[in-house]
Amino acid sequence: MARQALPHFVSPIEPERLFAMAASDEVDSRLVSAFDGQWAMQRGPIARLPARRKPGWSLLVNGVDRHDDVMSALLQRFRFVPDARLDDLMVSFATDGGGVGPHVDSYDVFLLQARGKRRWRISPPGDERLVSGAPLKLLAQFEPTESWLLEPGDMLYVPPGWGHEGVADGECMTFSIGFRAPSRHEFLTAFLSAASDSPTGPDPRFSDRGRIAAQRPGELPADLVGQLQTWARTWQPTAAEIDRFIGCYLTEPSPSVWFDGPERTLSESAFKRTSTATGLRLDRCTRMAWRGTRLFINGESIDAPPGTRRWLRRLADERSLSPVDAGAALEHAALADLLRDWHEAGWLLIGKASD
Ligand code: SIN
Ligand code: CO
Repeated sequence: MARQALPHFVSPIEPERLFAMAASDEVDSRLVSAFDGQWAMQRGPIARLPARRKPGWSLLVNGVDRHDDVMSALLQRFRFVPDARLDDLMVSFATDGGGVGPHVDSYDVFLLQARGKRRWRISPPGDERLVSGAPLKLLAQFEPTESWLLEPGDMLYVPPGWGHEGVADGECMTFSIGFRAPSRHEFLTAFLSAASDSPTGPDPRFSDRGRIAAQRPGELPADLVGQLQTWARTWQPTAAEIDRFIGCYLTEPSPSVWFDGPERTLSESAFKRTSTATGLRLDRCTRMAWRGTRLFINGESIDAPPGTRRWLRRLADERSLSPVDAGAALEHAALADLLRDWHEAGWLLIGKASD
């Protein structure tokens, strides 16, 4: 647990902008209230909020970085954590006394106080039983061991499993920079589902040639069971298949993301001319990563055309290519085709971000 301060921090987002986002059905939001000690939760879109002067409510908007360049730039400042471990930037607005109650998150989180003050209390990992019948996950036992009043620019890191509760001290806004960490079950479910969608290699099928008439037709045949047991025990994807899947899995955009392509398709020469003049940048929702010789973008595995790997790695690391780098990269015809396809898909944009 650590508390840190960013001096002179001024929130780059106003509450009104957050309220507008929460009203949109493209944004994932929740309204939590505890009026007269009664917890309630409403999922967005939220067209009408309680009066701002009414204490005890809190609005939470997930993935604000996906809808705003400045907030996306703020999340980028946390890239000392690898992209594959960073999830999103959630913003909460609360009136006096508002919060989401004592709870535990399964992921690490940085809590950055953006406006006003919030009192945080934390408790070490322990009893995770929940209040039954509550509309949100509230710890039944919460015995805080430490407490801080966070002011704008203060930041608290909470590791997974630690109980925490933040209560607004007057009107306030808090940014949560959340991490992602797959569980074994989540990963294997996705892996096995992908493997079943596209089986690789020959697909043998059981055959019972030579079977004699069944005496006990209700009994599972031993040879059929034996064959299935063997397949279950010996099925082994290759190392290359596993690595390929891992890269695709870790760059899968979040399910609510929708990419919009450009209004008009650029000719090859127009794409080259404008990219070379102003540079290229990944859309703020694009997830791109590399490992060894492999490159991954938005859940796809890419074979880097010969001689182009350095440009693709740079694009993944810096999320942009300067005009000079874009010019050099586009000298490779195969890479130029790939980048133009990504631009067409809305994954890659021309020019600098407007922050
Ligand atoms: C909040 O901003 O109110 C909740 C953030 C958290 O507890 O993770
Ligand atoms: Co939390």
